[in-house]
Amino acid sequence: MNDDEPSSENGNPKPAGMSRRGFLHGMGGAGAFLGMAGLAGGQAAPRDADGNIIPGFEKNQDDANAAQDWQPVSDRKIRVGIAGYGLCRFGALFFYQNHPNVEVVAATDLDPGRCAVLAKAVGAKKTYPSCEEMIKDKSIEAIYIATDAPSHARLAIMALNHGKHVVSAVPAVFGFEAEGEAEALFNAVKQSGMKYMMNETSAFHQDLYEKRVQYQAGALGQVIYSEGEYYHDFGKGLTGYNPKNGKIDLMGWRRGLVPMWYPTHSAAYYTSITGGRFMEVSCLGTKSLYEGFQKENNPYQNSFGTEVAMYRTSDGGISRMVVAWDMKDAHGEKGRVYGQKPHDPKIDGRRPALPPGVGGGGHGGSHGHLTNNFIESILLDKEPIVGIGDALNMTLSGVIAHQSALKGGEWMKIPQYTL
Ligand SMILES: NC(=O)c1ccc[n+]([C@@H]2O[C@H](COP(=O)([O-])OP(=O)(O)OC[C@H]3O[C@@H](n4cnc5c(N)ncnc54)[C@H](O)[C@@H]3O)[C@@H](O)[C@H]2O)c1
Repeated sequence: MNDDEPSSENGNPKPAGMSRRGFLHGMGGAGAFLGMAGLAGGQAAPRDADGNIIPGFEKNQDDANAAQDWQPVSDRKIRVGIAGYGLCRFGALFFYQNHPNVEVVAATDLDPGRCAVLAKAVGAKKTYPSCEEMIKDKSIEAIYIATDAPSHARLAIMALNHGKHVVSAVPAVFGFEAEGEAEALFNAVKQSGMKYMMNETSAFHQDLYEKRVQYQAGALGQVIYSEGEYYHDFGKGLTGYNPKNGKIDLMGWRRGLVPMWYPTHSAAYYTSITGGRFMEVSCLGTKSLYEGFQKENNPYQNSFGTEVAMYRTSDGGISRMVVAWDMKDAHGEKGRVYGQKPHDPKIDGRRPALPPGVGGGGHGGSHGHLTNNFIESILLDKEPIVGIGDALNMTLSGVIAHQSALKGGEWMKIPQYTL
């Protein structure tokens, strides 16, 4: 991950105990050969309006490059309901249907056709016309929210208030409502006592995970500087759920999307390594040439296609995080951290073992790991890898960054939430 480390390919150190082939397959979703889709049944990868595959879905490989010999922590089965089967088909791509500690009892999507395909793919006997209806099912213990980004916080709060554990696709909170949603989501997690996890795929990229292990072992010392990037050229546009007609089209929630309202794939390259916090931000944006990013052409009055944020971190370091939707020759989710001490090649930074039938899957082999981590957090009553504190800091840091960009880079404080 650090470009100056000599024992590596593409600047990334080879984790101890890992083959070259395994290493290449295990790295974060930074380039064409690095992303892993884990798509079921030979499904085609989702594409944007230019026909380009969305980053993270490039290749259908399932080499999780994890440690071997998974040991069950319980013989209990958590009863899960799954919501959302849109452009990315995330509802079916996280291996819930294969995990030995899960029974998928119900599935939902607002669109009856998508709902039926999802239910079949995950083996759910029950379907519901909406996530809101599914949440009322008393037999369900945990809800996986893979709906459009603007709906995540509202559905998560509702599920927590109904006594369900929640795992949500990114981001945790969204847009103009993000600060109010953060307060309400935090309170719902605190008051319910249920588990909340944000499924940030970068957290289980092999390169990031290895640095997390290094950091937690004290090998890196303090992280002086970190940087993360999420680059995806939207080109003619990217479809998403459009609440006006129920379709997945170019006028949905991704039209003119504020780059820093989708910050977590980058931010994880600090937060998911150190558990530290972004405290203050100064951000700049550049106006996009793309039609959807003209202020009058999107619901966010947004004109920025690229935003670059500089953060002060809670451990006295500096971070630079970028989200770009309009840069040419820029692609993927990637990042680097630099500590006071060098990477220790003797530390085994492989990802944990996975249960039989659960692969790494898409986004750098992260899907199966996120699911296993969430289920084990319930079974073992432990904090998931991206709990509410990390999720809100990663998400809000971007939302405040955009406010800074609108003020020409003024330094702004980021609200803090700690359980
Ligand atoms: N690397 C990553 O972590 C990554 C990559 C891609 C997408 N995502 C996230 O995954 C989520 C899904 O992405 P997508 O592209 O499939 O979204 P999408 O907008 O294409 O589809 C969303 C789906 O949710 C359904 N839906 C909306 N509200 C609902 C409700 N109340 N009840 C039931 N169903 C409802 C819609 O009908 C639609 O089918 C998004 O939040 C996105 O941010 C994350």
